[in-house]
Amino acid sequence: MSIDELNASFAISDHLTWVEGPGGLPIARANFGHAETEISLHGAHVLSFKIDGEPIIWLSKEAVFNGKKAIRGGVPVCWPWFADHPTDADKPAHGVARTSEWRALKTEQLDDGIALELGLTDSEQTREVWDHAFELRLSVELKADSLTVTLTSTNIDSIPLEFGCALHTYFAISGVHSAYISGLENVGYIDSIDNDQRKVLADAIHIDREVDRIYTQTESAVLIHDPDWDRTIRIDKTGSASTVVWNPWIDKAARMSDFGDDEYLGMVCVETTNAADDVRTVAAGESHTISQTISLA
Ligand code: BG6
Repeated sequence: MSIDELNASFAISDHLTWVEGPGGLPIARANFGHAETEISLHGAHVLSFKIDGEPIIWLSKEAVFNGKKAIRGGVPVCWPWFADHPTDADKPAHGVARTSEWRALKTEQLDDGIALELGLTDSEQTREVWDHAFELRLSVELKADSLTVTLTSTNIDSIPLEFGCALHTYFAISGVHSAYISGLENVGYIDSIDNDQRKVLADAIHIDREVDRIYTQTESAVLIHDPDWDRTIRIDKTGSASTVVWNPWIDKAARMSDFGDDEYLGMVCVETTNAADDVRTVAAGESHTISQTISLA
């Protein structure tokens, strides 16, 4: 659909408009109260979330908007697997959803916010990578003080399917040396940069090196404390019993072409996931829903 057609069907007066974003990608720009967000149809990718103009979600200055590559930053939707494919190294990391073109399905003005729903079904392109029938719905609800991203995966194939997933959210922080993360103390994790060893730590997470961890068996809220910006970001979730924490640090940042060398200083990923032990098996005709709500505590 063209930008004009998207606006004709899905604009909400004063609250949601479609614009041509970087690289010509169609983007929905929504606001409610002092909150604003932008969502790209490419990947059903939330690009920004701000309250009072202050970014809560981070987007790389080096992000590539070519309608092919996944966008670096925001909320990539990793699906139907998280990270590398479990058995086939040739398949794309984090699956097919983040690089697919999604369709706008619905927008709605709520009493206390704005809602947008996007959809993706299997196509020739997705079947090349993952040969199954599926239906995905991604809804974004913007309220005056929160953003909720919800992904519902429906198995419309004839056999049970395994759905792994991440709402791979990049958060903006004042500085990686002063911000820290709580809510995952004493939760076991898989250390992806130490041979997937299982570990547990009693303390809050202070990032001082590359961190790439899948916390397992955790449904609790996670907090990103940022004393220098005098704020705490809160992430609540449902349908997810695993959380990934990632910061690439110096060497990995330097290896990523779409990530500035110093940008690891101003971001951290806290991802609401169905990863590792938490991958869900969904029977034919059934669905699984995963959701995160981001707010300031
Ligand atoms: C994280 C993974 O979720 O995503 C990391 O835990 C990975 O291992 C990171 O490097 C970024 O992945 P990508 O494919 O977007 O570069």
